[in-house]
Amino acid sequence: MTDGLGSTRGVRAGVVLAPMTTYKLGGPADWFAEIEDEQHLIDVLAATGAVDVLVLGRGSNLLVADAGYRGLVIRLSGEFVQIVVDPDGVVRAGGAAPLPRVARAGAEAGRCGLEFYAGIPGTVGGAVKMNAGGHGSDTASCLISARVIDRFTGGRYDRTAADLGFDYRHSNIEPSEIVLSARFSTRDCERAAAEARIRGITRWRKEHQPGGTFNAGSVFKNPPGDAAGRLIDEAGLKGHRCGGVAVSEMHGNFFVADEDATAQDVWDLVWAVRRRVGEAAGVWLEPEIQFAGVFDRTGDELMGSETVG
Ligand code: EPU
Repeated sequence: MTDGLGSTRGVRAGVVLAPMTTYKLGGPADWFAEIEDEQHLIDVLAATGAVDVLVLGRGSNLLVADAGYRGLVIRLSGEFVQIVVDPDGVVRAGGAAPLPRVARAGAEAGRCGLEFYAGIPGTVGGAVKMNAGGHGSDTASCLISARVIDRFTGGRYDRTAADLGFDYRHSNIEPSEIVLSARFSTRDCERAAAEARIRGITRWRKEHQPGGTFNAGSVFKNPPGDAAGRLIDEAGLKGHRCGGVAVSEMHGNFFVADEDATAQDVWDLVWAVRRRVGEAAGVWLEPEIQFAGVFDRTGDELMGSETVG
């Protein structure tokens, strides 16, 4: 079936993914396609057969293995980044629309409720899949419905928020479902008030999170009733490193990569920190970042491989 992919319009072989992620790490995808409209997506999916498919958003929550990804990576653009605010205040956005732009589009139209997206550097599709949230809100609280395509059947249908099984950083979107677009509800408000909230969120992030460095936001989900960053901090792990990657001194749940870092270094640090927090506090953190491809060692083999930075 990969021969079919090789001769499909817009599909390229051996494309390096590192520049497409915020970590700037990781090897090539066997196949890569930039897709601007729904018909092209349908055509490419029809050619995939048993090949694995990964939809890459803005790469802000993703670690790609150094060996790369054995499958097809799709990046949506064109009609998939469009954002429209309807006269009734419903915001319609393509699956690849950047969340900070969704926040600004709502505010500019004098509609409130999506400002929290200003602090999340991902896409609409990723937000639906992960129930992305922050600053007291999340996707579950504003999503009306998401339009998806099932890559195996080619079926296109709406999934309502109630049907998506939203939980903290979780939805029941199937691995075979790709988010084409989503509809969000908003409230009428003063544009200036919404824009002030967006500025406040941007300022808060600058003060509390190591933006501008190579990282992928929160590494772990927060455990019930606690915060991963607090637990990592309390375990004395700030500055701990594996190779070229260290736990941020500013926020314990952010791991920051140096120029000479590898994806394997990030992977190693994730499991080393999980182990140390587990042993110190009895809380076994669950990664929030997504992994693509195969890494060298398992979590259990990594005990003690990190050094104190
Ligand atoms: N804390 C420490 N030490 C640290 C870091 C944090 O003690 O090194 C404490 C803070 O003082 C605070 C608590 O831990 O009491 C929580 O920290 P913070 O307010 O920074 O929020 P968070 O729970 O770490 C969450 C989201 C972020 C989102 C912020 C803002 C998760 C896993 N993370 O962070 O989302 O930006 O709230 O609302 O839910 C992301 O998903 O990638 C992300 C960055």
